[in-house]
Amino acid sequence: MIEVKNLSKSFGEKGVLSDLNFSVSHGQSVAIVGKSGAGKSVLLKCLIGLVKPDEGTIYVDNKLINSMNFGQLQEIRSNIGMVFQFGALFDSMTVGENISLALQKLTKLSSDEIKERVYNSLEEVDMVNTEDLMPSELSGGMKKRVGIARAIAIKPAYLFYDEPTTGLDPVMTDSINRLILKFQDTGEVTSVIITHEMRTVYDVADRVLLLHGGEIWFDGRPEEIKNSDDLVVQQFVTGNSTLV
Ligand SMILES: Nc1ncnc2c1ncn2[C@@H]1O[C@H](COP(=O)(O)OP(=O)(O)O)[C@@H](O)[C@H]1O
Ligand SMILES: [Mg+2]
Repeated sequence: MIEVKNLSKSFGEKGVLSDLNFSVSHGQSVAIVGKSGAGKSVLLKCLIGLVKPDEGTIYVDNKLINSMNFGQLQEIRSNIGMVFQFGALFDSMTVGENISLALQKLTKLSSDEIKERVYNSLEEVDMVNTEDLMPSELSGGMKKRVGIARAIAIKPAYLFYDEPTTGLDPVMTDSINRLILKFQDTGEVTSVIITHEMRTVYDVADRVLLLHGGEIWFDGRPEEIKNSDDLVVQQFVTGNSTLV
């Protein structure tokens, strides 16, 4: 369970998030949408304690994120798989090392157990036997898959995705969306998917929040956002219509 209360964040004079209130319950799959610069990534970074809010509170599983020290944050993060916007793989490390690193930092597994986890998580994303490849040898879609393998390797209760399908062609987008659904369908995972692509919203989310002007402008089901007659919502949804 995630609870965000009265969350505000500015950078200098620039207000980004203004008094946000929402919660995400166990097992939900929530998409957060909004145009570029709306504050989606900043919100996600607040949820994992990478960005400190100016005001408000964030609770994950009833633990207050805002005031945590590094050690406490690491403990919370060991339960949150993050899929970053640009894959965020270390270019100088192999695929296997990229995934192992997260396991070494966030779990107490032995090196044999880590090896097995790396194998299994690559298998989950249809990338078996790629451990020894370098990121530069992978296509954009494969990098995203490795990013997802790294996130699920820690067996997290939460999966946070930042723009998992941005820049991918429709076929690759569908395959990533299917992966997100697969991990969601275990019923054990709570997902937050940041995206500006409505196709991903309709395919994977059971709830969607639209960020606009620093506020939550819409909060409802994907079919409701599709049929909303609010102008801002319509503009966002139809601006994406070529992708639906
Ligand atoms: N570390 C930072 N310092 C200053 N401004 C930032 C920082 N991070 C984000 N911003 C600004 O906050 C706004 C929202 O950014 P972001 O959350 O990345 O948008 P998006 O919705 O596209 O993910 C942007 O105007 C961005 O320039
Ligand atoms: Mg972003």
